[in-house]
Amino acid sequence: MTDPLQPLLERLSIASSQLTAPGPDPATLERLIHASIRVPDHGKLVPFRLIRLSGEAKQVFGARLAALALARNPDLPEAKRLKEERRYTYAPLVLIVVASLQPDSSIPVIEQQLTAGCVAYNLLLGAQALGFGAQWLTGWAAHDPDAAKVAGLQADEQIIGFVHIGTPTSPAIDRPRPSATALTCDWVP
Ligand SMILES: Cc1cc2nc3c(=O)[nH]c(=O)nc-3n(C[C@H](O)[C@H](O)[C@H](O)COP(=O)(O)O)c2cc1C
Repeated sequence: MTDPLQPLLERLSIASSQLTAPGPDPATLERLIHASIRVPDHGKLVPFRLIRLSGEAKQVFGARLAALALARNPDLPEAKRLKEERRYTYAPLVLIVVASLQPDSSIPVIEQQLTAGCVAYNLLLGAQALGFGAQWLTGWAAHDPDAAKVAGLQADEQIIGFVHIGTPTSPAIDRPRPSATALTCDWVP
């Protein structure tokens, strides 16, 4: 009998540069998103949304961010500029997970960010369950106000991550995992 925890026990990231086509078709992607947004949500604020990067848009998005990086640092080596430009081109699909925050809500902002983070994590788990590979990346662009504008974010929005989804080009290699027992203790009164 399969261990019901197997999907969690086997979850791992595939580097975005190791992801290629095919990605999920539109109907599969809709199901993946439908499943991934079933997240715990204090106050039911729905403090998240998704922006899809696919097709030519991935290249254009990377080129805009590369231009931004170059404007910030005119001495940026060409290899680094190219890396920025190509970052979003490997996987067939990149979902920008956006936290749409309500700073004046009684629900602390961190709880809203965590809810959006759950969406990103569900996308990883869901993509792998569907046979794809995925990776959650941030990098400077996730924390840069001008990059946020390039992505089309509104005020009080924040990039929680870029979730790259596609077909792994090589077998996944796991990494050593922390010990559950070492990380768990009993509270002692
Ligand atoms: C919020 C968040 C942001 C991350 N950003 C990056 C990143 O910018 N670059 C990177 O190499 N890994 C980043 N990672 C880590 C990878 O997604 C991945 O977890 C890591 O490579 C370990 O692989 P694993 O998921 O198989 O444990 C990030 C993870 C999280 C949760």
